[in-house]
Amino acid sequence: MTALLEVEDLRVAYGKIEAVKGISFTVEAGQVVTLIGTNGAGKTTTLRTLSGLLKPVSGRIVFDGQPLNGIPAHKIVALGLAHSPEGRHIFPRLSIAENLQLGAFLRKDADGIEKDVQRVYELFPILGERRKQASGTLSGGEQQMLAMGRALMSRPKLLMLDEPSMGLSPIMMQKIMQTIAELKAEGTTILLVEQNAQAALSLADQGHVMETGRVALSGTGEALMHDESVRKAYLGED
Ligand SMILES: Nc1ncnc2c1ncn2[C@@H]1O[C@H](COP(=O)(O)OP(=O)(O)O)[C@@H](O)[C@H]1O
Ligand SMILES: [Mg+2]
Repeated sequence: MTALLEVEDLRVAYGKIEAVKGISFTVEAGQVVTLIGTNGAGKTTTLRTLSGLLKPVSGRIVFDGQPLNGIPAHKIVALGLAHSPEGRHIFPRLSIAENLQLGAFLRKDADGIEKDVQRVYELFPILGERRKQASGTLSGGEQQMLAMGRALMSRPKLLMLDEPSMGLSPIMMQKIMQTIAELKAEGTTILLVEQNAQAALSLADQGHVMETGRVALSGTGEALMHDESVRKAYLGED
């Protein structure tokens, strides 16, 4: 079986600074794969490159059988790769409903779009209750729900989440992680970037530890969670 996403020897630089130094990994359909690692390891750079927002120096990205090199970002969304970015980037003056519509900007099937809006409101009832409210009035956790909902509105084959739990209260973080588990149970394929290694690894089929632009260690979520070096570096044990 070929993987839904194949990344091979990917290198990405900002000018002379190499942020991603030749990483390889795959995501199979139906899997949750996580990239963990400290600040500056190159996780966000990797996701932004997969989305077509950054151009790699070299390497191969194949999504659903199609090489992505040189394909513009909006076409990558149309191919089924959605990105909920670090920092959320919702449109604060637009309502929740309007932000969700923006996530469906490439779709023409009004009935399908409406169905998916309702599905997002089922996943996150608070968004439904406040659908006419300006999104800037939402709490951080609610804005994260909206960013995830907006990404789901393109009906992605692969959902990429960059630090969904960042800056959230423990309760809100738990809620977000629960929703990711729910999406996984429904068969959604997810590439999850997290600094909360414990939460990410407990959900993930496969995990990769990134350190300064490289994949330092790979394994099942279970294996990495029990790996001594991972426990020391990322799970706060000594
Ligand atoms: N826009 C940018 N210009 C220059 N360097 C950047 C830029 N964005 C990130 N970097 C650098 O690239 C490296 C990887 O960053 P990033 O991908 O954001 O890491 P992570 O998401 O794992 O924290 C870091 O050294 C960071 O300082
Ligand atoms: Mg980041």
